[in-house]
Amino acid sequence: MEIIRFRNVSKAYILEDWVIHQLDFSIEKGEFVTLIGPSGCGKTTMLKMINGLIPFDRGDILINGQSIREWDMIRLRRQIGYVIQQIALFPHMTIEKNISYVLDLLKVERETQRKRSEELIDLVGLERSYLKRYPRELSGGQKQRVGVARALAADPEIVLMDEPFGAVDDITRKILQKEMKQLHKMLEKTIVFVTHDIEEAIHLGTKMVLMDQGEIVQAGTKEEMVFSPNNEFTKRFLESKGFNAYLGQLTIKEVCTLVKQKKVSDEIIETIDGDASVLEGIRRLIEKGVKHLNVIGNNGIIGRFSLEDIKEKIKKGE
Ligand SMILES: Nc1ncnc2c1ncn2[C@@H]1O[C@H](COP(=O)(O)OP(=O)(O)OP(=O)(O)O)[C@@H](O)[C@H]1O
Ligand SMILES: [Mg+2]
Repeated sequence: MEIIRFRNVSKAYILEDWVIHQLDFSIEKGEFVTLIGPSGCGKTTMLKMINGLIPFDRGDILINGQSIREWDMIRLRRQIGYVIQQIALFPHMTIEKNISYVLDLLKVERETQRKRSEELIDLVGLERSYLKRYPRELSGGQKQRVGVARALAADPEIVLMDEPFGAVDDITRKILQKEMKQLHKMLEKTIVFVTHDIEEAIHLGTKMVLMDQGEIVQAGTKEEMVFSPNNEFTKRFLESKGFNAYLGQLTIKEVCTLVKQKKVSDEIIETIDGDASVLEGIRRLIEKGVKHLNVIGNNGIIGRFSLEDIKEKIKKGE
């Protein structure tokens, strides 16, 4: 089901100086869309048009089939969580109050607010003792987690994220990405996630949208973007980084040919862990000078892996 629809949307901040040109596309419910493109191409503008923070000049945006122009703005923003890079927490409020801020506006009962804050802090992987702290007592990564918790407080259908992990270190970012992916699976929200980072876009997105100068250059699955770019810009933008990121996020067990224990070939002696990345698998193939590897799962050998398996996976484009 279509949850967000751009219908020939154009936007100019300055008269006739279009920063968004006739954007026409839709996002399905439950999708995790990663929006990438060079600086200034219009990502933030596009995101903020979805929750009505920035008005547009032409066309229309439909949320759940209803034009933004007809939505009550307060109700709309309640339906849409929003997380930005430098999350602006209220400095004089505890983390608990920060998280339940929207619920307070909605006049939700105190006890329910408290319970919801606990639920949410668990969800984003922080200890409950943090609820009593103030924002200044948290690290950057922890603040971003609180930002995510706050965006989820009113249980919105859609979550918009604008480079939410752009300012945290590499290791923390990887952890936050992993958590975000799990959250998406668990909560079945529709997420639109802006990032500069190709690796992040490939790792997180069920769909990718590449923009340039206010237009969508190509949208599709990561397989389509990396292996079937339909124009020079996509090809150049993703280049080897996209290819590496794709093979780096794909696990061996996702692509390998499953085999029954009885059918395990004793000619294949080299092994690889099913949770290892395909990139590591290729490296192992090269290092060991073999064509196949046995794939190890929880209870012994679960399959075998070769370059053919990757080709199959890409062909299927799941
Ligand atoms: N308030 C504004 N007034 C005038 N022009 C603006 C305004 N906000 C953004 N722009 C222009 O609109 C274009 C798109 O900006 P936008 O912030 O959407 O880009 P972006 O893709 O998010 O960039 P970045 O990756 O750097 O965050 C840019 O050319 C920018 O200069
Ligand atoms: Mg931006």
